[in-house]
Amino acid sequence: RVGRMKTEWLQTTSEKRKASIKKAVSYLKEGKVVAIPTETVYGLAADATNEEAINNIFRAKERPQDNPLIVHVATKEQLLQYATHVRPYVEALIDAFSPGPITYVLRCNGRVANNVTAGLDTVGIRIPDHDITEELLKEVRLPLAAPSANLSGRPSPTSAQHVMEDLSGKIAAVLDGGPTEIGIESTVVDCTEEVPIILRPGAITKSDIIQVVGKVAEQTSAQTNETPRSPGQKYVHYAPEVPLILVCDHARLLETVEKEINFSRRVAVILTNEERDIKHATDVVFLGKESTHQMQKLYDVLRSYTKHDVDVII
Ligand code: TXA
Ligand code: MG
Repeated sequence: RVGRMKTEWLQTTSEKRKASIKKAVSYLKEGKVVAIPTETVYGLAADATNEEAINNIFRAKERPQDNPLIVHVATKEQLLQYATHVRPYVEALIDAFSPGPITYVLRCNGRVANNVTAGLDTVGIRIPDHDITEELLKEVRLPLAAPSANLSGRPSPTSAQHVMEDLSGKIAAVLDGGPTEIGIESTVVDCTEEVPIILRPGAITKSDIIQVVGKVAEQTSAQTNETPRSPGQKYVHYAPEVPLILVCDHARLLETVEKEINFSRRVAVILTNEERDIKHATDVVFLGKESTHQMQKLYDVLRSYTKHDVDVII
């Protein structure tokens, strides 16, 4: 059980920045859990070498124990300290994309707590690209395990407000670095085989990786269903409070809206193609045509719809 505590909101505007980072560092050294900003989404961080601290993450997030956490470090040298049998293409990937939104799954050498990797012989590690968290990592001098800072199953948090909605009272503090730049999680790449395998898509794409390594594999859905290499794929993710229906073109969209409205449902519409007026919809949001804008806003929009306001999102 998680005892209630007051979650401190650590601001990082110019004059408060140093003191806030210092406070976060001391909490982390004490084995406490602190939410931190990254370029992708907010992470729920704790000392990756401290098993009890890691347990606090699983408890706060209500995360299944068999779903491993990503370890965050500041430099390539530190990254390589926690892995063994690293394939040559990994360094090429690090040089090309890190710091940045990519996580490398590598053979683990046992230097992080067992519950970080959920007992697997591999560890997921990345170098986040965020100036506040870079400073934090350099000062704390510990690898930080951090899953996304949402309650299990919910959309990932892209602001300190989102973190507070899910975790206020359950963690020591949130370090507020403003809204995250990318807005979706890092690309997870299994680098233990001769060909890198994308386990979770993200901002670093298949073609980005091919440009560096010359080859890449994707997990087929059959593999995902039978024996997921990435245990996280077993669980529901990013679920908003109300059902979400995905449609592939405008005609299908209008048909679906009409059908839902005939059932007297209040409908929210999220558009990615162009801004339009959708008759009878309770709310309409246009994410922008650019995928970068769509990624940046997606989770915020999904979180904004509660069952009090709408019955379905299309
Ligand atoms: O952008 C991100 O990656 C964010 C920020 C906070 O860094 N973190 C994040 O963590 O999305 P999380 O725990 O929500 O997702 C981690 C994913 C899960 O699907 C997990 O199963 C997978 O990475 N993963 C972690 N370690 C793994 C390993 N050793 N082998 C396979 N998959 C692993
Ligand atoms: Mg997550």
